[in-house]
Amino acid sequence: MASARGEFGSRFGFVMAAAGSAVGLGNIWGFPTQAASNGGAAFLLVYLVLAFTLAYPALMAELIIGRHAHANAVTALGELSNNRLQRRIGRTTGTLGFIVASLILSFYAIVAGWMMAFCLSSFATVFGGDEIASWLTSFGFVRNELGTLVFMGLTIAIIAKGVQDGIEKWSARLMPMLLITLVALVAYVLTLDGAGEGLKVYLLPDFHRALSPDLILNALGSAFFSLSLGVGTMLIYGSYLDDTQNLPLVGGLVTAVDIGIAVLAGFLVLPAMYVALHNGVEIYTAAGELISEDTLIFTVLPGLFGTMGLAGALVSIFFFFLMTIAALTSSISMLEVPVAYAVEEHGVNRRTGAYAIGGAIALVSTLILLNFDSLFGLVITVTTRYSQPLIGFVFCIYVGWIWHRDQLLQELRKGNPAIERGLFWKIWPWWVRIVCPTIILAIFGQSLLG
Ligand code: TRP
Repeated sequence: MASARGEFGSRFGFVMAAAGSAVGLGNIWGFPTQAASNGGAAFLLVYLVLAFTLAYPALMAELIIGRHAHANAVTALGELSNNRLQRRIGRTTGTLGFIVASLILSFYAIVAGWMMAFCLSSFATVFGGDEIASWLTSFGFVRNELGTLVFMGLTIAIIAKGVQDGIEKWSARLMPMLLITLVALVAYVLTLDGAGEGLKVYLLPDFHRALSPDLILNALGSAFFSLSLGVGTMLIYGSYLDDTQNLPLVGGLVTAVDIGIAVLAGFLVLPAMYVALHNGVEIYTAAGELISEDTLIFTVLPGLFGTMGLAGALVSIFFFFLMTIAALTSSISMLEVPVAYAVEEHGVNRRTGAYAIGGAIALVSTLILLNFDSLFGLVITVTTRYSQPLIGFVFCIYVGWIWHRDQLLQELRKGNPAIERGLFWKIWPWWVRIVCPTIILAIFGQSLLG
């Protein structure tokens, strides 16, 4: 069974692919700006605690279900079920997962298209094409649509190639490139005037703000988005793992890389904001609040790069290139969810499936672009605030309550025969049974109220 499907060729390849999925716009853009406006180091602390106590256990639930079934979420949840009703709920959840993954991709591709446009715009600046450069950075349907289509094209091309030749190969190439670019940018920005101010904001905790309940729930949501949970992405990646892998370890590595990159990105974005301030770019709103996430990257940073002449244009190329890579290793993991389902459940050819489904998602993106004001925010809210936690909740319930404990243990023993004696087996099973669902329900309740 497993042989007919794709499989990751090495642990390194898997970790790069899964970390590539996890590391995305959420880490490099979302996390640092949230930290900036929410108490700096204290937010960092809350985020770290939540990532390890909630996101990591939930990630493990997806990886284990996937590896056990060696199948997509629809088939996998169906197989774990003990009766008709559970089967129906499980398959419905899997189906919702691939719809949500597709919708997330439809807005993600738009944002990624902007990143590409900003990267190209800086190229144009370097070569004296100022008119093109300014067209590329101004909001307009044609630019947005082109960016989205090019980005979707790249995503489709990788997914059409399959697991080892597509996902694994490209993640293993792009992720180290991402890390190097990020480190180089951090090193450069830290040498600029004003960077120290940003470091202070990032590293001096303001516990008063970080401990508000609202903020904790917010951090939970972003941890969930950041680890690509609640749509079946990690489940399908887990399904391409061979049985000799020690799952808790591999999952731990992925979580550590994801958090590590987010924290590292904080060392870039916060100092950069204060360098911008130092150079006369506005980073506070009239109300004295920090400029928020959506505007930061597309106004503050280009503003900063603009004050730096040619060096600025070069840094800008690197920065938006970095964002594009981060987005690409994430977007392939989104497209893989519906494509794997179509290939496995309906016998569709992978290439055909990738092009057809990717094309359909590009159409949805176009629809969003045509009705930007009413649809863009709505799709983000519905998918990330409501659907992800809810589907993640069902995954935890299937691992914690529906799957038999002995079988769960057997699955974990495959890659680690001594697992029973370790801390993981003592804590995780009841944690994912009780604690995770309770916390997720709390997030969900809060987003309903809020
Ligand atoms: N985790 C990625 C980020 O931080 C986004 C992502 C990739 C994602 N795959 C996903 C989010 C699946 C939700 C579901 O940007």
